[in-house]
Amino acid sequence: MSYCVRENLPLLERIGCLKEERKAVILAHNYQLPEVQDIADFVGDSLDLSIKAAETDAEIIVFCGVHFMAETAAILSPDKKVLLAAEHAGCPMANMISGHQMKEFKAEHPEATAMCYVNTSASVKAECDWCCTSANALQIAEHVENDEILFVPDKYLGSYIASKSNKHFTIWNGYCPTHVRIRPEDIVQRKKEHPKAAVIVHPECVSEVVALADEVLSTGGMVKFARESDYKEIIIGTEVGLIHRLEQENPKKHFYAATELAICPNMKLTNLEKILWSLEDLQYEIHVPEDIARRAKKAIDRMISVRT
Ligand code: 13P
Ligand code: SF4
Repeated sequence: MSYCVRENLPLLERIGCLKEERKAVILAHNYQLPEVQDIADFVGDSLDLSIKAAETDAEIIVFCGVHFMAETAAILSPDKKVLLAAEHAGCPMANMISGHQMKEFKAEHPEATAMCYVNTSASVKAECDWCCTSANALQIAEHVENDEILFVPDKYLGSYIASKSNKHFTIWNGYCPTHVRIRPEDIVQRKKEHPKAAVIVHPECVSEVVALADEVLSTGGMVKFARESDYKEIIIGTEVGLIHRLEQENPKKHFYAATELAICPNMKLTNLEKILWSLEDLQYEIHVPEDIARRAKKAIDRMISVRT
């Protein structure tokens, strides 16, 4: 039995002890619960997390996020054990398209380059030429040597980048159930309450919300904006979990959720106990079939090679 388990240490110390014993690193997304963010070795957006997963020399990655994120880490680090702390943490938007549907979509548009948001399964990525995150979607679209682009699965991110680009986009009809909860009326109301505040929103928000924003940013972009801008008050149009990090990093600034309803239930499935169990029992290991991983990795590697 492990030394850390035998010693009956308090929860946080046990996690720290096991992490060292297992040579593990804990990666957490910006939407995770505050206590999870606080014990993670690294907290970031999807792009940061993919890069970290590719670069770490830890033997085990404990992922605090949703399934597609851990899958991406497993694809990028085939020699490491990648564990998803919360077994059932999925992304409903990623589940809006299957590998089979992606194949059919491509067959209907053989002339187009297939680009997928990182919020997709490995089987969808395996069918695509390029992967992107919300931090680099426009940059990747511009980089692609084709004016015809198929974009999956998020119709709002897709139409946002299409509006900024001269290329022609054919977009899948997916969406994030959490971000569509942010309504234009919420932004108008918050702006009335805090007229001096900047409005920053995630590109997964509906187009009417995006139209009211001062900046449209990934969660990592929001962290940077909050740190660097002179605004003392900022209205945040994304999942509410990000506000913990923003407040911790900028104690003199004020952050207001566009709506408290923007909660991703899947992101909240991870807690400290599950992280401990993950380290104790090496669960839940993410396996991606070799052929799918090899093809999906091409799309992800291409994305990572185009650094912002
Ligand atoms: P970011 O890459 O901006 O962190 O977004 C991930 C996500 O799932 C947004 O809902
Ligand atoms: Fe998926 Fe939306 Fe949750 Fe992000 S916030 S993980 S896109 S359901």
